[in-house]
Amino acid sequence: LAGGLEELTFTPGLDDVLQASPPPIALVPTMGALHAGHAALIERAAEQMRDVAGGIVVVSIFVNPKQFGPGEDFDRYPRTLNADLKLCRDAGAEIVYAPSVRDMYPDEHLHPGGIATAVQVRGPLTETLEGAHRPGHFDGVATVVLKLLNMVRPAVAYFGEKDWQQLAVINTMANDLNLPYLIEPVPTIRDDDGLALSSRNHYLSPEQRRIAAELPAALFAARDAIESGVDPVSVENALAERLSNAGFAVDYAAVRCPTTLGPPPAKPPFTVRILVAAKLGDTRLIDNVSATRS
Ligand code: PAJ
Repeated sequence: LAGGLEELTFTPGLDDVLQASPPPIALVPTMGALHAGHAALIERAAEQMRDVAGGIVVVSIFVNPKQFGPGEDFDRYPRTLNADLKLCRDAGAEIVYAPSVRDMYPDEHLHPGGIATAVQVRGPLTETLEGAHRPGHFDGVATVVLKLLNMVRPAVAYFGEKDWQQLAVINTMANDLNLPYLIEPVPTIRDDDGLALSSRNHYLSPEQRRIAAELPAALFAARDAIESGVDPVSVENALAERLSNAGFAVDYAAVRCPTTLGPPPAKPPFTVRILVAAKLGDTRLIDNVSATRS
């Protein structure tokens, strides 16, 4: 303090920081190519902010290179910013934040990849299912989601059940790191034939799109089987077989504990999550449903 306290300046002033009460924000993180599934998240956010004084809905659009593997579709991932902006406005968003890769990972001159820190949720939750087929994927997701949360500092952030394992990973990170953000799940939005909406559905040929409806149909049949007492392993096998017969290359068909994604409880009553990933040609589809046995 040799130079005297007056040399220290605070920007913003300490009083400002202590007295400011920022408007409550609802954040919907996305990678763009928005569809009615994303719209449902934004509409839920807008609905929950409606009666909150000064409440605003922010949608982030960022195709995050760190969650795509080397052979994956980062380069051809659809980018439709103008249509996305319209969907965001119509669904009730006030702000769209669409940073560049340089904005998100700016320190290329210091660290390869523009960032030195990564958030890793460890253990079976990220090593199984999607984690087993997409090494490093959930590190990329957790890191970018934590960055977005800390940049926007929402009261609430919305995530779709469509990506059930992602939701479980984000919930675990939020809990483990005491994040002061509420994580709000939103049910999956489906097309008329049951196919869960996904930006990747655009890759399907008309013939593949027709076959794709087998995926939700097989999942719903698996749910009925669990609920009528068929054992989980038989249900997994029947689900995988039905999908292979329909022309899918199945990555996994699994009946799991909804929170840990470990094995389901041995005895009823239980609620499980049935999760599948399967490819039609080059297009990889994922989906999941809940099943309860009393
Ligand atoms: P993206 O695939 O764009 O999805 C953004 C959000 O929309 C996710 O929470 C996802 O679960 C949800 N969503 C997608 N399709 C849905 C559907 N049919 N019904 C309900 N919700 C649906 O998921 C990501 O982006 C990224 O991993 C992200 C979280 C933004 C991090 O980069």
